Amino acid sequence: MAEKAFKYVILGGGVSAGYAAREFSNQGVKPGELAIISKEAVAPYERPALSKGYLFPQGAARLPGFHVCVGSGGEKLLPEWYSEKGISLILGTEIVKADLASKTLISAAGETFKYQTLIIATGSSVINLTDFGTQGAEAKNIFYLREIIDADELVKAIKSEKNKKAVIVGGGYIGLELSAALRINDIDVTMVYPEPWCMPRLFTSGIAAFYEGFYANKGVQIIKGTVAAGFSANEDGEVSEVKLKDGRVLEADIVVVGVGARPRTALFKGQVEEEKGGIKTDGFFRTSNPDVYAVGDVATFPLKLLNEIRRVEHVDHARKSAEQAVKAIFASEHKRTIDEYDYLPYFYSRAFDLSWQFYGDNAGDDVLFGDHDPTSSAHKFGTYWVKDGKVVGAFLESGTPEEYKALATVARLQPSVDSLDQLAAKGISFALNV
Ligand code: FDA
Ligand code: NAD
Repeated sequence: MAEKAFKYVILGGGVSAGYAAREFSNQGVKPGELAIISKEAVAPYERPALSKGYLFPQGAARLPGFHVCVGSGGEKLLPEWYSEKGISLILGTEIVKADLASKTLISAAGETFKYQTLIIATGSSVINLTDFGTQGAEAKNIFYLREIIDADELVKAIKSEKNKKAVIVGGGYIGLELSAALRINDIDVTMVYPEPWCMPRLFTSGIAAFYEGFYANKGVQIIKGTVAAGFSANEDGEVSEVKLKDGRVLEADIVVVGVGARPRTALFKGQVEEEKGGIKTDGFFRTSNPDVYAVGDVATFPLKLLNEIRRVEHVDHARKSAEQAVKAIFASEHKRTIDEYDYLPYFYSRAFDLSWQFYGDNAGDDVLFGDHDPTSSAHKFGTYWVKDGKVVGAFLESGTPEEYKALATVARLQPSVDSLDQLAAKGISFALNV
């Protein structure tokens, strides 16, 4: 089979691939020099839409409406954009072998791709309950959500009149966003998760109490402290029951599982250094192989602000790391220098009519402020994290753009505080006056 050769190859066609392509264009990449190879059948899009607007009962988001870079207010890169720029968008193509020594990638169909510089942008894959040997987990109508084809399957099931009861396994991002999405589609929803409160990776018990109360008021049932131990199926092989470890049995005709993601690094095992489950990079996203960069979910990079090495599974970092890597590639080719990546962690979510943003680090003492009564129509609250006398992180539900901007400033500047009580009393006005 014919071999194709490119100066630059981006492996993966997700969020970071799209933002990298735009930066390649800004940097003056020449027609024919760049290829994006993706197993997905569509051009890079804003993945966050899949668990939100894509699932709306009315006016649902559909491609081409949410191709990158609309998520950050930029130009929408339609498939034509890539062809106009002479960028090869090689879709529906899964790479099954990567040999970094010979700079060769091989697809499932046996095609060979050569590169001079490679950007690994393979993102994450979902953790599957079959990985844990959960009994019955291969039944039909048990869904996971990572790519647009998963979302299409889920939409079909949501729209089917016979599906009226859903169990959501997992209390993280997918669990919270999907419970809301299914509920607004008028489906009975029960969430199940092992921890004492939802999203323990980020939420304090105080933050979680608001969301759990709000979801309960929307009719979402929440079962905490146990996991799905098995599933029963009907004669068509469709899921009919979820058996919990604590002995309870829940009826279900749809199950959505969100029990975490794993960075897709398997192709590169033993060929690049890894750390914290990801591919280790420097502040320019260069890996231990100088011709190979890694961006987005797969990269473990120096987080300068916190003086730590971290991996981040969020869209803002996917966008910015991609831009940084491409700038670094061009700088190194032109013997220029650029500043090291200096990232301020930024995460957000939206569900029902709720919306929050978080900046910085959720470490140290937490200080809850504002109206966090889930039944209050004026709910608006936040949390600061204070470590070694400094505010290092900030969270706000239902903020204005100005308040979110102030939150980011606080997390970046890390102002000192004397009293946690005073900080709680000042609430968002503290951030607005920094
Ligand atoms: P991404 O997953 O976007 O892309 C990886 C690409 O590589 C995919 O196209 C994949 O098919 C391809 N690929 C992988 N292996 C391959 C191979 N061997 N050959 C060819 N192609 C291959 N974050 C946030 O901050 N706010 C939010 O609201 C959300 N919402 C959200 C919803 C849902 C449903 C998901 C799944 C995730 C989010 N996220 C999020 C997280 C965010 O979307 C995520 O961090 C970024 O998409 C990561 O971008 P990457 O480019 O690293 O991977
Ligand atoms: P997550 O890590 O956010 O949450 C996983 C949750 O799974 C845990 O909190 C726990 O409650 C639960 N869990 C673990 N094992 C379990 C088990 N055996 N049974 C039941 N529950 C179990 O992961 P996720 O929600 O699956 O999200 C997947 C990826 O998508 C992540 O990278 C996430 O960052 C990304 N994502 C982000 C957003 C956002 O930023 N708004 C939205 C959707 C998805």
